[in-house]
Amino acid sequence: MRLCFIVERVYRQDGMPLRVAEQLLDWGHEVDLLEPDATVAGLGEPAGRPYDAWVLKTVSEGPGLSLLEAAAATGVATINDVRAIRRVRDKAVAAAWARVHGLPSPTTWFVTHRRLLEQIPQSEYPLVVKPANGSRGRDVRLLLRRAEIDDLDLGDTGDCFLLAQRFVPNNGWDVKLYNTGSGIHAVRRPSPLGRRVGAPDRPIRVTEELRRLALEVGRLYGLDIYGVDVIGTERGWMVVDVNDFPSFGQIPGAPAVVAESILRIAGRAVAARPVSA
Ligand SMILES: Nc1ncnc2c1ncn2[C@@H]1O[C@H](COP(=O)(O)OP(=O)(O)OP(=O)(O)O)[C@@H](O)[C@H]1O
Ligand SMILES: [Mg+2]
Repeated sequence: MRLCFIVERVYRQDGMPLRVAEQLLDWGHEVDLLEPDATVAGLGEPAGRPYDAWVLKTVSEGPGLSLLEAAAATGVATINDVRAIRRVRDKAVAAAWARVHGLPSPTTWFVTHRRLLEQIPQSEYPLVVKPANGSRGRDVRLLLRRAEIDDLDLGDTGDCFLLAQRFVPNNGWDVKLYNTGSGIHAVRRPSPLGRRVGAPDRPIRVTEELRRLALEVGRLYGLDIYGVDVIGTERGWMVVDVNDFPSFGQIPGAPAVVAESILRIAGRAVAARPVSA
């Protein structure tokens, strides 16, 4: 296979996705790394032999997604599918998609600036306020009552749009579900909003219910390699976040498994290509 990995600046030193690329090289595949911050990239005119697939682990507001979309426009397979990434990269779109497709998920409002939070009735509180383009738990805040709006510390959120979401009552643990493209894994992690902050992450057993939920999320969003954050409630699991291509911390052997998945997805796309005359 011939693959192009778009590597965003923050991932140049990171385990993922470079370890996946290294694994593919070890297996004898051709892998080019494209660093959008370091290389000018020709658009729509691939020099020489085209790639079988392009791979991206996105960062919010990074240049990689434009390049991946440009690659997809030439008909090449991408991992993940660019439309699926667009559905989750903006948490507003992801929240709407979850609700409209019947996934159990909290009521969510789109808020362009903090003053608008006053329009949400006190009866909807507590609220979780987070940046629509957030990741890594950045600037996720719990707002207990409207009187706290003025004091809300939005951190580095600056001018970006916000989501306000009904707080899902929980026992302080999140479950991070991961799909490597070949199997579902679950890790228990302390919620940044709860009393267990600082406790270590721990892999847990994937129940049939969790497995089905994870697969359903992938199917609904169109993702192959992804993560889902869920919270256990008295009425079952609630989905609070979906991410394309997570880092798979705590999942042993993830780079090799993800590499295999990429080969399989790319192989499927190659097999489906129309035969040129
Ligand atoms: N509506 C909610 N109700 C209860 N807890 C929430 C809610 N939304 C977010 N949280 C808590 O905050 C955490 C981080 O929120 P979210 O996943 O939306 O942000 P993130 O920036 O993507 O964080 P991460 O990268 O850690 O997943 C969740 O895993 C959960 O513990
Ligand atoms: Mg999350």
